Amino acid sequence: MSLKDFKKINKTDIANGTDALEIEDLSVTRDICTDISKKDISDKTASDNASIKPVQVQNEAEEDDEPDEYAENHDEIAKLKAAQEAASASGPNGQVVYIPKEHIGELPLLELHDIYKIYKMGSEEVHANDGISINIYKGEFVAIVGKSGSGKSTLMNIIGALDVPTSGRYLISGQDTSSMKDDELAAIRNKKIGFIFQQYNLLPKDNLLDNVCLPLLYAGVPKHEQKERAMRQLERVGLSDKWMQKPAQLSGGQQQRVSIARALAGDPELIIADEPTGALDSKTSRQVLGFLKDINQDGNTVVMITHDNSIALEAKRIVRISDGKVVYDGTAEDYAKLI
Ligand SMILES: Nc1ncnc2c1ncn2[C@@H]1O[C@H](COP(=O)(O)OP(=O)(O)OP(=O)(O)O)[C@@H](O)[C@H]1O
Ligand SMILES: [Mg+2]
Repeated sequence: MSLKDFKKINKTDIANGTDALEIEDLSVTRDICTDISKKDISDKTASDNASIKPVQVQNEAEEDDEPDEYAENHDEIAKLKAAQEAASASGPNGQVVYIPKEHIGELPLLELHDIYKIYKMGSEEVHANDGISINIYKGEFVAIVGKSGSGKSTLMNIIGALDVPTSGRYLISGQDTSSMKDDELAAIRNKKIGFIFQQYNLLPKDNLLDNVCLPLLYAGVPKHEQKERAMRQLERVGLSDKWMQKPAQLSGGQQQRVSIARALAGDPELIIADEPTGALDSKTSRQVLGFLKDINQDGNTVVMITHDNSIALEAKRIVRISDGKVVYDGTAEDYAKLI
């Protein structure tokens, strides 16, 4: 669906009520995600290309010594796995799933039980997620970290109710999503999840207020209430005075703050941030991470996907994945000691 079509639907649906929007949401969300995947691929290609430097013959040895940022660090993984095994063995009943001590006895907000996502490529099978079990509790700030190809986006799609696993069970506040149909998954996303994307995904022709109103429009909130609630979120990220501006008139960091406001507008149970600082310089990244920490302090549950350990360390808890498997799940503090 093109943006033009999307806006046309928006306008019709504002006039006609919101039923059609709920149905449309799936394709819109999927389009947004498809766009992101395409963007990710082109970004990755661009960064791959950027990292290819003209090689002079006399520099060949030097070039070989350069660390490959996409390669897995096997020593680090072995250390993390050993620490994880020791922790599980000493846990109650040899528990295999990590439970932060402040959440022992609580029902998890998100429960992933032995999640597999297997892609068939001709006769080959790719185990993008290979038996992942994680519990995430209300109020946590969890970073999912791993190298390129480790299975983060696959896992994010499942956690974000954008896709279902090949096998295993995934429950959001006790509700099993594993065998849900597309429209049921769309309803879960609408009600329970706010998304923050690397490329912000703001609608370029809409002003900031209308962008932040979007999830409220989907949720069928009355129009006057939409504006009021959206403005409150813009205030929260310090951009209420710019509500009439278009996204292109803002810096990258400001656009990401708008997307944080949009993610919060529907008061979702879960905020998922996919590489939220991937397109930002380090100073702006810190600011955006500061906002994520603030919203977590206010009681929101945040799951952040990143390939960067230094970004992951800003979370309270870290889940490291490698080859589709969890190799570490524990506090950021303990993780910092192991890497
Ligand atoms: N639709 C698909 N069809 C086939 N293989 C896939 C598909 N999606 C992902 N994969 C494979 O699954 C594995 C995990 O991919 P995924 O996109 O989850 O990795 P990632 O950790 O998000 O990587 P990156 O940091 O590069 O975004 C990779 O080997 C990838 O090639
Ligand atoms: Mg990815």
